[in-house]
Amino acid sequence: MLAINLKGKTALVTGVSSGVGLGIAKILARAGCNISGCGTSAENSEGVVTFFKTIKEEGTQALYTKLDITSKLDQELLVNKTIAAFEKIDILVSNAGVNVFEGAERCSEKQWDFNMDLNLKAHWGLSRLCKPYLELNGTGVIVLMTSNHSNYTIPGCFPYNVAKTAIKGLVQSLAIEWGPKIRTVGIAPGFIETPGNQKWFDSFPDAEAERQKTIDLHPVKKLGTTEEVGQFCAFLASDLATFITGTTYLIDGGRSALMQDT
Ligand SMILES: NC(=O)c1ccc[n+]([C@@H]2O[C@H](COP(=O)([O-])OP(=O)(O)OC[C@H]3O[C@@H](n4cnc5c(N)ncnc54)[C@H](OP(=O)(O)O)[C@@H]3O)[C@@H](O)[C@H]2O)c1
Repeated sequence: MLAINLKGKTALVTGVSSGVGLGIAKILARAGCNISGCGTSAENSEGVVTFFKTIKEEGTQALYTKLDITSKLDQELLVNKTIAAFEKIDILVSNAGVNVFEGAERCSEKQWDFNMDLNLKAHWGLSRLCKPYLELNGTGVIVLMTSNHSNYTIPGCFPYNVAKTAIKGLVQSLAIEWGPKIRTVGIAPGFIETPGNQKWFDSFPDAEAERQKTIDLHPVKKLGTTEEVGQFCAFLASDLATFITGTTYLIDGGRSALMQDT
């Protein structure tokens, strides 16, 4: 039987207290990984309690570190704590990020810097710190989280889209410079069911109608789930994907195949 088997591997996943990162952590744990996760939330917050409960239900070990991933000291702390607990890092999923949505003219330097520090520089910094561990057994995998905004965008999503586009370049550089011991792949999700996207629907006078309008624009007639992103991530991290590196994959339910004015 063909199956994804990550039994005994250690996955470091950033941003596990919510949304996509939590879904990825759950599926990687289901495939057999111990998970070292992080976020800015406290250990006793609802999101982190859910993270621990989720990994426990999947039957593997979980570690959580409260930190700011843009801080180099915090990145070092995260890597050191992961090694202290699990003695290795096989898979890095650099997922933590937030929407920084502004106009190109209105965007302040502070917004630009915050966005670049979190949505771009932190991915590079953490990857570099994990590199010595990932390459140890010659089969390390880095998955960087970008977005469909790296392919096309809409007015007012600047400078988020700039950082997410640059991640595709980061994926290429790490793949060609750090291969063959480490494979580096990008995931560019489209519209995923997350608390943030629900908040966006809720900002409309008729949230349900807006949600249905968005669903109708997807050939699969649904939004993506965090678990679906996790499943793709588990495949990319597995030895079923050993010919895959240096590329970013769109996972958007066919949304981008449909012309905007259809
Ligand atoms: N949702 C989508 O439809 C979608 C689509 C395309 C791409 N993405 C990408 O997917 C990733 C996750 O997004 P999401 O929708 O799941 O967002 P989310 O629900 O807001 O989760 C973001 C996660 O990142 C963590 N985080 C944020 N800032 C951090 C910091 N400075 N240091 C450490 N952790 C930090 C958050 O921790 P706390 O909650 O503890 O602060 C949280 O765990 C992002 O890179 C995003 O760009 C999402």
